[in-house]
Amino acid sequence: EDREFEILIENDNICKRTRLIGIQINLDYENRCPLFIGVLNGSFMFMGDLLKEITVSCEVAFIQVSSYSGAKSSGKVKEILGLPDDIHNRDIIIVEDIVDTGLTLSHILKELYKQKPASVKVCSLLLKPAALKEPLEELEYVGFELANDFVVGYGLDYNGLGRNLNDIYRTKTVVPSAS
Ligand code: PRP
Ligand code: MN
Ligand code: MG
Repeated sequence: EDREFEILIENDNICKRTRLIGIQINLDYENRCPLFIGVLNGSFMFMGDLLKEITVSCEVAFIQVSSYSGAKSSGKVKEILGLPDDIHNRDIIIVEDIVDTGLTLSHILKELYKQKPASVKVCSLLLKPAALKEPLEELEYVGFELANDFVVGYGLDYNGLGRNLNDIYRTKTVVPSAS
């Protein structure tokens, strides 16, 4: 399968939007010492840039859970690795690069709630509203809403590649011409 890549969101726009989200979080979490939990691998770049904008006292952790193979969500959710076990009464902000079907987050949220945190909100750089399987009331901060394209770059991968790209690209399948 051949794919064509075209630029969708430039790094400059990502940074501007991230700055605004950071300002909003600083206002919302004044004196609350939130715990940011980044979902690896995709969130690493957004997490880094977002946290540079955070001025309230906070803690940072990462978890890992993977469900994608190639360009389609397999729907299968694996085990969560690295979940902190001291989140009782904490204000949690989960950081994602993208919310697609929402299955990854539903799974993470279910596990988090077992420890009875004080609050849980989700901050995702990207959201595909049309792909979301059920409403996610924890989704408080969203950078950009996308159509149902496959996207790569700025942490997001295509078969493991492209996470290092500064900008976000959309890919489309190229139909081979008969030759
Ligand atoms: C991607 C993305 C989100 C999740 C969204 O991660 O980073 O974590 O899929 O999809 P969903 O809403 O349909 O569950 P992936 O599983 O590809 O792992 P990665 O972050 O390591 O690339
Ligand atoms: Mn991910
Ligand atoms: Mg992936």
